Amino acid sequence: MTLSLAARAVEVLTTADGRAKTALGRRHAAEWLAARAAGTPLPIGHAAPPDRPARPDTPEVMSPRDMPRRRPGSPLGRAALLHAVAHIELNAVDLHWDIIARFSHIPMPLGFYDDWVRAADDEAKHFNLMCDCLEAAGSHYGAMPAHAGMWRAAEDTAHDLMGRLAVVPMVLEARGLDVTPSMIEVFEKAGEAGPVAALKTIYAEEVSHVAYGSKWFNWLCGQQGLDPKEAFHTLVRQYFHGVLKPPFNEEKRADAGLPPDFYWPLTEREAAADPA
Ligand SMILES: [Fe+2]
Ligand SMILES: [Fe+2]
Repeated sequence: MTLSLAARAVEVLTTADGRAKTALGRRHAAEWLAARAAGTPLPIGHAAPPDRPARPDTPEVMSPRDMPRRRPGSPLGRAALLHAVAHIELNAVDLHWDIIARFSHIPMPLGFYDDWVRAADDEAKHFNLMCDCLEAAGSHYGAMPAHAGMWRAAEDTAHDLMGRLAVVPMVLEARGLDVTPSMIEVFEKAGEAGPVAALKTIYAEEVSHVAYGSKWFNWLCGQQGLDPKEAFHTLVRQYFHGVLKPPFNEEKRADAGLPPDFYWPLTEREAAADPA
């Protein structure tokens, strides 16, 4: 029997080890894309994703306030930066497989699944690139603490596909476009060619993930007769904790189909929502 895409997503989500999770995800992605290219798509199916994805015993997760402070200029600081990115990428792998399984009851065009399968495959590559860099520096994923609370956006939007698209690709992944250039600079200054190349690959590929979010968000708005900008503002204020922080990478955000009037108004709290 052919395993459905939703069942494959749940297999990835319930695999704890990062290298094993990403290897399995990459196999599923290759099979999905090959079947699509052959004109014989795999069934989407239905499968219940876990509330939280399986994760390895390490890294230890802790609140961002309790994380040890390290100077980005030091070798340890640079390793901590790579470790933080590896953790984000592993979380992103799970987020993309989760959107596939979690919302499989909502009929979407096959292109929706193509996009998130491709994004999940990219994140798997990114996680492995970061692990390779850490290992080349004598460390590994799990050697340092990692931010807790990464799955919060997924939990908050577990029942709202438009909310998920607004918060995950269009806010969190768009934020990656803002901050990656300065990370690349840190490694350029240190003359570390491996991390520079890896981070440049990540930076180039993340634009498409934001674009997938924007594409399907707009598609759902069109279907429901909603104004995309207003719907985006409402959903981000509903599900995202805090305000968006400039500076923004306006050029890459535009490449990804995210216009300034979507994100600039969210840099301030809405006056009416502020009880003070
Ligand atoms: Fe990524
Ligand atoms: Fe991404």
